[in-house]
Amino acid sequence: MRLQASSISLQASQMGRREVVSTAAAATLASILTVPNLADAEIPGIAGQSPKTILITGASSGIGFDAVSRFVSLGHTVHVPCRNLEKSNSIKDRLFSMSELPGTCVTGVCDLSDLNSIQQYANSLKSSNVKLDAVCLNAGLAPGISNKIARRTKQGFEETVGVNHFGHFKLMGLLKQESLLTQNSRVTITASGVHDPDSPGGQQGSKATLGDLSGLESQGRDCEMIDGGAYDPDKAYKDSKLCNVFFARELQKRNPNLMVNSFTPGLIVSTGLFRDQNPLFTKVFDVLATNVFKVGESVTWGGGALAYIALSDDIKTFGGYYGSKPGSSKFGDSAYGSAFSVDAVSKEVTEGEKKQQRLWELSEKLIQIS
Ligand SMILES: NC(=O)c1ccc[n+]([C@@H]2O[C@H](COP(=O)([O-])OP(=O)(O)OC[C@H]3O[C@@H](n4cnc5c(N)ncnc54)[C@H](OP(=O)(O)O)[C@@H]3O)[C@@H](O)[C@H]2O)c1
Repeated sequence: MRLQASSISLQASQMGRREVVSTAAAATLASILTVPNLADAEIPGIAGQSPKTILITGASSGIGFDAVSRFVSLGHTVHVPCRNLEKSNSIKDRLFSMSELPGTCVTGVCDLSDLNSIQQYANSLKSSNVKLDAVCLNAGLAPGISNKIARRTKQGFEETVGVNHFGHFKLMGLLKQESLLTQNSRVTITASGVHDPDSPGGQQGSKATLGDLSGLESQGRDCEMIDGGAYDPDKAYKDSKLCNVFFARELQKRNPNLMVNSFTPGLIVSTGLFRDQNPLFTKVFDVLATNVFKVGESVTWGGGALAYIALSDDIKTFGGYYGSKPGSSKFGDSAYGSAFSVDAVSKEVTEGEKKQQRLWELSEKLIQIS
């Protein structure tokens, strides 16, 4: 039996009303052509595996918590580092107070907005001789879209890109450097459809682009936006997700033995992601997206998608990007692999191999702690 992740709070989405309307027709058509609801079926290819050791960031809420509940229910050992120990402990408490589970939860502290915290966390894994079969780089934040001033991480990065990209880049680098991975570890990176300006979500508001990387090239950690533009919180989130896709592909290229994939869970208004948006708009938008236009996904769909890519024996793709059409939650767990499968990345990604490589080089330089 798998636990249901708790819905933390109703939060706003950056997906605008126009997007809801434009995607509603497609969702309605899809619901007419629907397959039977298989929500109680199992995710293909993840049951009956030998116990694995998994690390996941962003497990304290949303799709990360749902994925952890699945991992632990399947008997795996899951490392759940959070910004502080209370948050990490609370994951364990919530899971094991609900039911007896065959797996194990290992708590820890890894604040992705602080390079020193990430280093200390990697040191702690090293001293425990951990070998990770799977790593899920899932944590993420989205700043309030009316924010005028960029918040900064401990070492001065713009916070959104600092946490969502640079924090994970640092963590992954240390996992490799300290030999904390197995020969064939799987790495799953939670990106988003908004990395693509031609996607339904990516078309709304500011568009993702890293431009010519001139902000990062000339100002390093001090830049407000990677492309050198003025701070734009909506774009900063979308840019950070574009960085996730570039990072996943370059990580795969440099480490052919690993299996690296990124994915979009779709629009899930009820996670904690948009806690910094206007609460009234969030509530209205949640009802519209989820109940009226049915373009939103459930938290369990997003968590299941993460678990599927991280563990399923059916996944054969290296360096892929996965996603589904809006409103695919209704297909249920057995639809991973059919309704949720390899998807197209943005034009900037497909045409940006040099940019991808340069982003890696700059990231490598900027995450060094002096
Ligand atoms: N929800 C959507 O519509 C949607 C769509 C596409 C992609 N995504 C992606 O899905 C991933 C998970 O998001 P979610 O929707 O499940 O939202 P969520 O409930 O807010 O989860 C985000 C997680 O990231 C953690 N986090 C934030 N800043 C951190 C930091 N400095 N150090 C360590 N952990 C930190 C949060 O921890 P705290 O509890 O400490 O805040 C939380 O556990 C994100 O990467 C997001 O970009 C979401």
